[in-house]
Amino acid sequence: MSSIINTSEASTEASISENAAESTFHEVDDRDRAIPSIEFRDVLLAFDDRVILNKLSFKVMKGETKIILGGSGGGKSTIIKLVLGLLKPDSGRVLVNGEDITDYSEAQMMRVRKKIGMVFQEGALFDSLSVYENVAYRLHEQGVPEEEVEPEVRRMLRFVNLEDAIDKMPIELSGGMRRRVGIARALIGDPKIVLFDEPTAGLDPPTARTICELAMKLRDLEDVSSIFVTHEMNNLDYLCSEYAVVDDEGRVIFEREGERLCLINSKVMMMRQGEIIFSGTDESLRRAEDPYIQKFLRGH
Ligand SMILES: Nc1ncnc2c1ncn2[C@@H]1O[C@H](COP(=O)(O)OP(=O)(O)O)[C@@H](O)[C@H]1O
Ligand SMILES: [Mg+2]
Repeated sequence: MSSIINTSEASTEASISENAAESTFHEVDDRDRAIPSIEFRDVLLAFDDRVILNKLSFKVMKGETKIILGGSGGGKSTIIKLVLGLLKPDSGRVLVNGEDITDYSEAQMMRVRKKIGMVFQEGALFDSLSVYENVAYRLHEQGVPEEEVEPEVRRMLRFVNLEDAIDKMPIELSGGMRRRVGIARALIGDPKIVLFDEPTAGLDPPTARTICELAMKLRDLEDVSSIFVTHEMNNLDYLCSEYAVVDDEGRVIFEREGERLCLINSKVMMMRQGEIIFSGTDESLRRAEDPYIQKFLRGH
């Protein structure tokens, strides 16, 4: 969470390199960036005879937020379980950071999961543990010494604007605050991949916006790649039309596209009955003529 990606610094380095003439567009970590954070290749999954995901192929590039839309039962949570290795495909491959995890054992998956943050719909906090203990959970489990745990927990709670709640119990918090504690917990260890499964479900619009702002901060200031599953159109609007920047006073603010030249790194994928029926930018989604998509965009 510490550094803000400084693309100008990277391009300066590239331009002063010996091969400046031919490497104008080659940044230092170019090769690494070309490897998708998540990739599905022809992933097929069926329960009994029912096909849940029908030869799905897609990529989530570094620093990109892939918004997955679709009605209930469309296979969205199943995609997330496959990334975490909680389910295995019947055929096809799943790759994380270029590593083929399809046939990984549980022990191998534990190592991969450490690099992935997971934000569940309900926040899924342990009610008997304080906010501090909830956020620290992963570090305590790994036996990290307390003097290292505390600054990390505080840093994450600051990121979600909840440092004041550090000694509270989950029951004392509002639904939105619990959800933010869940996000702070998911971000422990600075995962470069974060998976959100309907993180704003059941929240009022201003609180839902706060959750989207956190996702935008991760995308724009931390270079995190994410899958953001939702069926709420306001989430799509926020994530596709605004971006986070740090102002002159060091505060994070959100600007709308067009106020400055920028490219918002969100892509949209729509699922229906285990198939991808749309993949692209939100502008092209809104122009799509498919009656199902139009109905979905109007809000059912
Ligand atoms: N373990 C399972 N056994 C049988 N069917 C399942 C299982 N898990 C999910 N399904 C079915 O797979 C479909 C897709 O589920 P899911 O990925 O949870 O959808 P979504 O998250 O888009 O609502 C649903 O029809 C669901 O009933
Ligand atoms: Mg689901």
